[in-house]
Amino acid sequence: MMIKPDGVKRGLVGEIIKRFERKGYIIKELKMMTIPEDKAKEHYRQHQQKPFFDQLIQYITSGPVVGMILEGEDCISGVRTIVGSTDPAKAAPGTIRADYATNIRYNVIHASDSPESAQREIDLFFN
Ligand code: TYD
Repeated sequence: MMIKPDGVKRGLVGEIIKRFERKGYIIKELKMMTIPEDKAKEHYRQHQQKPFFDQLIQYITSGPVVGMILEGEDCISGVRTIVGSTDPAKAAPGTIRADYATNIRYNVIHASDSPESAQREIDLFFN
Protein backbone atom coordinates (compact mmCIF):
# COMPACT_ATOMS: atom_id res chain seq x y z
CA MET A 1 0.00 0.00 0.00
CA MET A 2 1.04 3.59 -0.38
CA ILE A 3 0.23 6.71 1.61
CA LYS A 4 -0.21 9.30 -1.15
CA PRO A 5 1.35 12.81 -1.13
CA ASP A 6 -1.67 14.45 0.52
CA GLY A 7 -1.61 11.87 3.33
CA VAL A 8 2.09 12.55 3.97
CA LYS A 9 1.68 16.35 3.76
CA ARG A 10 -1.23 16.28 6.19
CA GLY A 11 0.71 14.29 8.77
CA LEU A 12 -1.45 11.17 8.56
CA VAL A 13 1.37 8.61 8.26
CA GLY A 14 1.29 7.49 11.90
CA GLU A 15 -2.49 7.40 12.03
CA ILE A 16 -2.69 5.25 8.90
CA ILE A 17 0.09 2.84 9.90
CA LYS A 18 -1.59 2.39 13.29
CA ARG A 19 -4.75 1.06 11.65
CA PHE A 20 -2.88 -1.71 9.83
CA GLU A 21 -0.72 -2.60 12.83
CA ARG A 22 -3.65 -2.92 15.20
CA LYS A 23 -5.41 -5.20 12.70
CA GLY A 24 -2.37 -7.49 12.91
CA TYR A 25 -0.69 -7.06 9.55
CA ILE A 26 3.10 -7.27 9.54
CA ILE A 27 5.10 -4.45 7.96
CA LYS A 28 7.70 -6.26 5.85
CA GLU A 29 9.13 -3.16 4.15
CA LEU A 30 8.56 0.56 4.53
CA LYS A 31 9.99 3.30 2.33
CA MET A 32 9.55 7.03 1.83
CA MET A 33 10.13 8.12 -1.76
CA THR A 34 9.14 10.65 -4.39
CA ILE A 35 7.84 8.71 -7.37
CA PRO A 36 9.41 9.62 -10.73
CA GLU A 37 7.00 10.27 -13.59
CA ASP A 38 7.89 7.11 -15.52
CA LYS A 39 7.16 4.85 -12.55
CA ALA A 40 3.93 6.72 -11.81
CA LYS A 41 2.76 6.14 -15.39
CA GLU A 42 3.69 2.47 -15.16
CA HIS A 43 1.92 2.11 -11.81
CA TYR A 44 -1.33 3.61 -13.17
CA ARG A 45 -0.98 2.26 -16.74
CA GLN A 46 -4.51 0.77 -16.68
CA HIS A 47 -5.86 4.34 -16.41
CA GLN A 48 -3.82 5.73 -19.32
CA GLN A 49 -6.89 6.50 -21.44
CA LYS A 50 -8.94 7.99 -18.60
CA PRO A 51 -9.67 11.72 -18.48
CA PHE A 52 -8.18 11.98 -14.97
CA PHE A 53 -4.84 10.31 -15.91
CA ASP A 54 -2.65 13.42 -16.34
CA GLN A 55 -3.84 15.00 -13.10
CA LEU A 56 -3.42 11.69 -11.29
CA ILE A 57 0.23 11.46 -12.43
CA GLN A 58 0.84 15.11 -11.52
CA TYR A 59 -0.58 14.54 -8.05
CA ILE A 60 1.13 11.23 -7.25
CA THR A 61 4.54 12.69 -8.22
CA SER A 62 3.94 15.99 -6.36
CA GLY A 63 5.68 15.02 -3.12
CA PRO A 64 6.93 12.13 -1.03
CA VAL A 65 4.81 9.03 -0.51
CA VAL A 66 5.23 6.22 2.01
CA GLY A 67 5.16 2.76 0.44
CA MET A 68 4.72 -0.36 2.50
CA ILE A 69 4.68 -4.10 1.95
CA LEU A 70 2.17 -5.60 4.37
CA GLU A 71 1.79 -9.27 5.10
CA GLY A 72 -1.06 -11.19 6.72
CA GLU A 73 -3.99 -13.52 6.21
CA ASP A 74 -6.30 -12.28 3.43
CA CYS A 75 -4.17 -9.17 3.45
CA ILE A 76 -5.21 -7.72 0.09
CA SER A 77 -8.97 -7.73 0.66
CA GLY A 78 -8.53 -6.90 4.35
CA VAL A 79 -6.37 -3.87 3.60
CA ARG A 80 -8.80 -2.64 0.95
CA THR A 81 -11.64 -2.94 3.45
CA ILE A 82 -9.73 -0.72 5.89
CA VAL A 83 -8.91 1.70 3.02
CA GLY A 84 -12.51 2.07 1.77
CA SER A 85 -14.02 2.88 -1.63
CA THR A 86 -12.13 4.99 -4.19
CA ASP A 87 -14.62 7.83 -3.82
CA PRO A 88 -14.54 9.03 -0.20
CA ALA A 89 -18.20 10.08 -0.50
CA LYS A 90 -19.09 6.42 -1.02
CA ALA A 91 -16.57 4.94 1.45
CA ALA A 92 -17.99 3.24 4.54
CA PRO A 93 -17.72 5.18 7.80
CA GLY A 94 -14.60 4.22 9.74
CA THR A 95 -12.54 3.49 6.64
CA ILE A 96 -9.42 5.60 5.99
CA ARG A 97 -10.88 7.31 2.92
CA ALA A 98 -14.18 8.07 4.67
CA ASP A 99 -12.39 9.43 7.72
CA TYR A 100 -9.63 11.47 6.04
CA ALA A 101 -10.55 12.29 2.43
CA THR A 102 -13.19 14.42 0.75
CA ASN A 103 -12.12 14.16 -2.88
CA ILE A 104 -11.80 11.17 -5.22
CA ARG A 105 -8.40 12.35 -6.49
CA TYR A 106 -6.89 13.27 -3.14
CA ASN A 107 -7.97 10.07 -1.47
CA VAL A 108 -4.94 9.67 0.82
CA ILE A 109 -3.99 6.06 0.16
CA HIS A 110 -3.45 3.39 -2.47
CA ALA A 111 -3.76 -0.36 -1.91
CA SER A 112 -3.06 -3.17 -4.37
CA ASP A 113 -6.23 -4.87 -5.57
CA SER A 114 -4.94 -8.39 -6.41
CA PRO A 115 -1.92 -10.62 -5.77
CA GLU A 116 -0.77 -9.84 -9.33
CA SER A 117 -0.93 -6.07 -8.88
CA ALA A 118 0.73 -6.38 -5.46
CA GLN A 119 3.63 -8.29 -7.04
CA ARG A 120 3.87 -5.81 -9.90
CA GLU A 121 3.88 -2.84 -7.52
CA ILE A 122 6.45 -4.48 -5.20
CA ASP A 123 8.73 -5.05 -8.21
CA LEU A 124 8.21 -1.47 -9.36
CA PHE A 125 8.84 0.29 -6.04
CA PHE A 126 10.94 -2.09 -3.97
CA ASN A 127 13.24 -3.54 -6.66
P1 TYD B 1 -8.80 3.12 -9.14
O1 TYD B 1 -7.73 2.12 -9.46
O2 TYD B 1 -10.10 3.03 -9.85
O3 TYD B 1 -9.13 3.14 -7.57
P2 TYD B 1 -8.36 2.61 -6.26
O4 TYD B 1 -7.28 3.62 -5.95
O5 TYD B 1 -9.44 2.59 -5.21
O6 TYD B 1 -7.81 1.24 -6.56
O7 TYD B 1 -8.24 4.60 -9.42
C1 TYD B 1 -6.91 4.91 -9.14
C2 TYD B 1 -6.85 6.33 -8.64
O8 TYD B 1 -7.24 7.23 -9.68
C3 TYD B 1 -7.80 6.66 -7.49
O9 TYD B 1 -7.30 6.26 -6.24
C4 TYD B 1 -7.95 8.13 -7.62
C5 TYD B 1 -7.85 8.39 -9.11
N1 TYD B 1 -9.17 8.60 -9.71
C6 TYD B 1 -9.57 9.91 -10.03
O10 TYD B 1 -8.82 10.88 -9.81
N2 TYD B 1 -10.81 10.11 -10.59
C7 TYD B 1 -11.66 9.08 -10.84
O11 TYD B 1 -12.79 9.32 -11.35
C8 TYD B 1 -11.25 7.74 -10.50
C9 TYD B 1 -12.18 6.57 -10.77
C10 TYD B 1 -10.00 7.55 -9.95
